[in-house]
Amino acid sequence: MIEQSTIEANVAQKDDNTLLEVRNLKMWFARYSGLFAQHIHYTRAVDDVSFTIKQGETLGLVGESGCGKTTVGRCIVRIYEPTAGQILYHDNGTTVDLAALNRQQLLPYRQQIRMIFQDPYSSLNPRMTVFENVGEVLQVNRLAQGSELEDRVASLLKKVGLRPEYMRRYPHAFSGGERQRIGIARALATNPRLIVADEAISALDVSIRAQILNLLKELQAEMGLTYLFIAHDLSVIRHICDRVNVMYVGKMVESAEATELYANPQHPYTEALMSAVPIHNPRLRGKKQRIRLEGDVPTHRIRRLAVIFIRAAVMLRRVVRLMRQICVCWIMKHSMRFPVISRRSSICAVLYRKRKIEPVGAQWIASKIYSTKRMFQ
Ligand SMILES: Nc1ncnc2c1ncn2[C@@H]1O[C@H](COP(=O)(O)OP(=O)(O)O)[C@@H](O)[C@H]1O
Ligand SMILES: [Mg+2]
Repeated sequence: MIEQSTIEANVAQKDDNTLLEVRNLKMWFARYSGLFAQHIHYTRAVDDVSFTIKQGETLGLVGESGCGKTTVGRCIVRIYEPTAGQILYHDNGTTVDLAALNRQQLLPYRQQIRMIFQDPYSSLNPRMTVFENVGEVLQVNRLAQGSELEDRVASLLKKVGLRPEYMRRYPHAFSGGERQRIGIARALATNPRLIVADEAISALDVSIRAQILNLLKELQAEMGLTYLFIAHDLSVIRHICDRVNVMYVGKMVESAEATELYANPQHPYTEALMSAVPIHNPRLRGKKQRIRLEGDVPTHRIRRLAVIFIRAAVMLRRVVRLMRQICVCWIMKHSMRFPVISRRSSICAVLYRKRKIEPVGAQWIASKIYSTKRMFQ
């Protein structure tokens, strides 16, 4: 097992070329429970993560679903307000902590750090044309107006490999890959320095993925972009990233140069991830040993206790309901034998008529007792 301090030493080294430095980032989501929402539990989506991104490089962020990759990306672009930690952005000799800025102060940095979203279908407004979708970013940031706006949108569409003639069409008229190109055009509109690509190709067809990866590489060479490339697929990361950070349940477990990580993974979790990469050559398939991780992802003690408590409460409720039904049925059965109409029996009769209780019968009671027994097994 690698020591946490070693990982931090690897990832948090700053040099003159550093563009972004994330220090001890934490993002905890509060969950409320109880009748009056009096209990607060925290989902530690990101827990003490540190890394640096150098100017012009592509840093990969990998890990299984739910480990906190998207949350890191969203904290950097400040969609989420981090619970703790610093996001130091180095801009022409000055350093600003993005985590500490307010809405107004963030505006210029929102132009410099942009995000490409995972889902090309939901990241565009279906009621707006491509021109409006892309032009909106330019208008909101006051970068172009009037006829200049149309020229800028046309040149952005050309840049991402789309024909400017299509700009009056709506997103539904485009394929998944084309929609992701529109999403990339939106991200490029403000001439950013850093792009957070959150699973930018995961939702696309395998045949389209390579095209989008090549486009991202070309744009990087042309515009000097820096990428934080989030993915869960290590085979994709290999082709595009210079360095890779591996995340596991909200923590950073390994950080290395991409080639080194593939040749010599250090952390057992990274090894397991590597062994899960599919092999395309049929002759080699089956020869590599797959490492399967045992057990569940560690959960917090309070969460485990809460689950046990909820299960016990559900079971108790079932037993109480069952007992009540049996009692009512017994009363009904006996009350019907006697023609005396007591208050209790009339209630039972009404309930029976309204189908609030089930019909009496030895068979039915036996089945209920059987299901109760099974509940306790
Ligand atoms: N807005 C939110 N509110 C509450 N919990 C969230 C929110 N966003 C993410 N989470 C939780 O944080 C954890 C990490 O999520 P995410 O960063 O989306 O994972 P990944 O991108 O690695 O699949 C998950 O357990 C998820 O349920
Ligand atoms: Mg995600």
